[in-house]
Amino acid sequence: MARIPSIIYGTAWKEDRTEALVLKALETGFTAIDTANQRKHYYEEGVGNALARFLQTGRVPRADLFLQTKFTYAAGQDHRLPYDVNAFFAQQVRQSCHSSLEHLGVDYIDSYILHGPNTGNGLTGADMEVWAAMEALVSSGAVRMLGVSNVNLGQLKLLYRNAHIKPEFVQNRCFASTLWDKDIRDFCTANGIYYQSFSLLTANARELQNPSVAALAKEKGKTLEQIVFRFAVDTGMMPLTGTTDETHMREDLDIFDFELTKDEIALMENIAQQQERQM
Ligand SMILES: NC(=O)c1ccc[n+]([C@@H]2O[C@H](COP(=O)([O-])OP(=O)(O)OC[C@H]3O[C@@H](n4cnc5c(N)ncnc54)[C@H](OP(=O)(O)O)[C@@H]3O)[C@@H](O)[C@H]2O)c1
Repeated sequence: MARIPSIIYGTAWKEDRTEALVLKALETGFTAIDTANQRKHYYEEGVGNALARFLQTGRVPRADLFLQTKFTYAAGQDHRLPYDVNAFFAQQVRQSCHSSLEHLGVDYIDSYILHGPNTGNGLTGADMEVWAAMEALVSSGAVRMLGVSNVNLGQLKLLYRNAHIKPEFVQNRCFASTLWDKDIRDFCTANGIYYQSFSLLTANARELQNPSVAALAKEKGKTLEQIVFRFAVDTGMMPLTGTTDETHMREDLDIFDFELTKDEIALMENIAQQQERQM
């Protein structure tokens, strides 16, 4: 079983640069890669090309990498679908996963994520059909662990209650204004689910302008971004970074030689509320 990573390199929106950037991320030391079989936002084949080049060097064996990809409903896709849209959902999942394995050039995927439920509220029959097909992929050995993305608490509870194979991961956009998705994170902690956070920097740009974050970064001798990622790790999250900058890649990995104190974590946790009070 792959080691659960502390930080994940995300591959969205990189288009022609995907292969070069993923290769750079692996060479820099990332061992976990997030992608999706959703050509609209991800170029999964480019990720596979980078993996092949990296694995050829023999520096790190496949077993030590954590590869994560997603099943995306047709509503989230453009015309470049990785499955027959007229097929049953279960068949779409099988086709999408088969295509992901081909794109990535591997014989198993560490973590397979439902990119988002079919609707914004509750779960539909389609979601349960998709999840059952994902469970079958675990049974067949094509996939090791399952997860879900872009969920609210009600949806997560429903899925958790009804799934035979429980989600091991939740991947959500993480807003400081919701105490960094605290209700979902609490549910995850209580049920042994790993929480992956994306858009930590981009969704919270205003809150992170708070001078107390800059002061904390200065005191620790780290960048503001490193403080955010360390805060994420200290609160039990697995942060995603999709940086396209080699220096940022190194910085994002260089967050394990310091810790935030309880008070510093509380400061970060409440940064949006503090900002509100100051306005
Ligand atoms: N499940 C979903 O629906 C979903 C949705 C969105 C994203 N994701 C996943 O999450 C990954 C990350 O996406 P994201 O939304 O968090 O945004 P991101 O692609 O990681 O963008 C981060 C932004 O912050 C900048 N940045 C500045 N300093 C940085 C530093 N030290 N380290 C990292 N970035 C720095 C980056 O610029 P530079 O490039 O110049 O560093 C970039 O513009 C995606 O690639 C994808 O895998 C999933």
